[in-house]
Amino acid sequence: MYKVGVIGLGNIASRYSKPEDPYPYCHVGGIRLCESTELIAVSDLSDERIKEFKQVWGPAFPKDSIRYYKTSSEMLEKEFFDIVAICVRGPYHYEVTMEVIKSGKTRFIFLEKPMGCSLREVDEMTQSAEAKGIPIIVDYSRHWAPHLLRLQELVKNGLVGQVQSVIGYCGGGVLSFAIHTTDLICQFAGYDPISVCGYVQGHGGIVAEKYENEPSIIGAIIKYSSGVTGYHVGQHGTMTGFSVDVLGSEGSLRAGMYIGTVVKNKQGQVIDNSTLGLPENASVFKVAYQQIADYLDGGPLPHCAKNDYMAVNEIGFAVIESSITGKTIDIPTQNRNRLIFANG
Ligand SMILES: NC(=O)c1ccc[n+]([C@@H]2O[C@H](COP(=O)([O-])OP(=O)(O)OC[C@H]3O[C@@H](n4cnc5c(N)ncnc54)[C@H](O)[C@@H]3O)[C@@H](O)[C@H]2O)c1
Repeated sequence: MYKVGVIGLGNIASRYSKPEDPYPYCHVGGIRLCESTELIAVSDLSDERIKEFKQVWGPAFPKDSIRYYKTSSEMLEKEFFDIVAICVRGPYHYEVTMEVIKSGKTRFIFLEKPMGCSLREVDEMTQSAEAKGIPIIVDYSRHWAPHLLRLQELVKNGLVGQVQSVIGYCGGGVLSFAIHTTDLICQFAGYDPISVCGYVQGHGGIVAEKYENEPSIIGAIIKYSSGVTGYHVGQHGTMTGFSVDVLGSEGSLRAGMYIGTVVKNKQGQVIDNSTLGLPENASVFKVAYQQIADYLDGGPLPHCAKNDYMAVNEIGFAVIESSITGKTIDIPTQNRNRLIFANG
């Protein structure tokens, strides 16, 4: 069993779900359901959050199996982990992640999105982790929905022929929220973006010392080296967030976290979903933790590791850079210092 520690006991760590949920949407629920991981310690600065966690989740774990700490520093001093999940807010990701890396007390980091507030932070976390041989994956959580993983594989193997365009739908903060759909577009288009033209709204003003406000996405066009074009639609009437249309030379796929899957052939006829081999539903967190455990067992890197999260972050920051400068941004983005208050 791989030992997991969680830093920050907020919504995504444990509060979005309860132990009885069959498909918990939170780290603790996924760690508990994954057969290869065990939760050994948690930390939160807030006594209230620790108290609530003990009440809600405590009875779901073996008695006295979890150790509680107020600060991440104290927890890292006393424990050794296979996996540390970093579930504090975006502006603290850099500081806490660097602390975890420097401590050398874990073999793997599962970091919440948004990875960092600037590309410089993303670069530094990546380089420091690499120097210590600690892989990071970033939690674009819906990526691990079992049916989306299966559809990703089918599309790669030609379900809609050669992919030509991927249209993703989701508004909201470019880095804190819409970034899930940036990842979803890449999940089907590939993780090889070369340029971005983006439009945002709500940018401007200093929100906290040093930081610029995080804008919302209006839209973006992403060019990939494969020749695929990605379109991020920020405002829409009927499509739910976290959904995509994948348009290929031989057909199309409509899929997402909260909509039914529709595959059409070149003639526009709907393909019977029972032919797709779509798997049973499962907690996306359980699936992600199982991928990490498989890696620690000697398997391949999990999804949303360096190559993937770098592409997604490059696109996210380039969308903002493009809108502010009025230019198409070639990737990698030159300006790595723009510091956005990505407080999701
Ligand atoms: N993947 C998703 O779908 C999803 C959904 C919601 C939030 N998130 C992300 O998860 C992260 C946390 O968001 P949230 O809504 O759960 O936040 P939250 O405010 O509910 O919880 C954060 C917790 O971290 C604690 N904390 C801060 N610094 C700490 C430290 N150094 N050591 C220990 N505890 C510390 C705080 O006391 C707080 O309880 C954000 O990056 C957010 O974007 C992801």
